[in-house]
Amino acid sequence: MSAVAPYLKAIASRRTVYALKPQLPSNVTLQDVQSVVEAIIKDTPTAFNSQINRAIILTGAEHKRVWDETVNSVQGDSGKKRPASVRDEAFGTIVFFTDDKTTEELQAKFPVYASIFPQFADHSSGAAQIQTWTALKQLDVGGHLQHYNGYIKAALPKSIPLEWQVHSQLVFGLPAVDELPQKSYIENPVKIFS
Ligand SMILES: Cc1cc2nc3c(=O)[nH]c(=O)nc-3n(C[C@H](O)[C@H](O)[C@H](O)COP(=O)(O)O)c2cc1C
Repeated sequence: MSAVAPYLKAIASRRTVYALKPQLPSNVTLQDVQSVVEAIIKDTPTAFNSQINRAIILTGAEHKRVWDETVNSVQGDSGKKRPASVRDEAFGTIVFFTDDKTTEELQAKFPVYASIFPQFADHSSGAAQIQTWTALKQLDVGGHLQHYNGYIKAALPKSIPLEWQVHSQLVFGLPAVDELPQKSYIENPVKIFS
């Protein structure tokens, strides 16, 4: 069991951290973040090894522009608070996508699974998102997961293919708090039947 302990500890120490500064830890570069995302997307399994996961990193002026457009598009002052804090306080955003064109090709090639391929895309994207979130925490990069998918899609750089479906935004930066947020857990045993 001891061999798996560091992996479990890494999973347990990932947290939603909303209080961020628009910086990275001094020993971490944007290229480090890029390398982590690329490695995780490469090794996250996909249905039929279809490799449908895609991601981009927004930072600097593009991060601000995309989130500013989101702030301006969301209706109501209360709804603008989160995207405004992301725009002003985070260092960057990893936008996760899956390639709908690949999903459609799979549906044509394997009709028996046609209705479930969109779910397979969701599953694999979720795995990539959470593994990235966990890995960044190992670099002391904090983050939180957002779903302003339609707004973000409308504001993306024009070079992003239209068939890339937006799944989430992993917002990241330097944690502005020292303590990890606490959370409660339910009793949730996994029973063995034999
Ligand atoms: C699939 C998924 C969707 C989530 N969507 C959002 C979201 O849209 N906005 C948000 O602020 N947090 C979102 N979260 C964060 C959860 O609220 C958070 O992970 C949960 O409360 C547990 O806290 P922890 O991340 O600190 O472990 C999401 C998390 C997951 C796994």
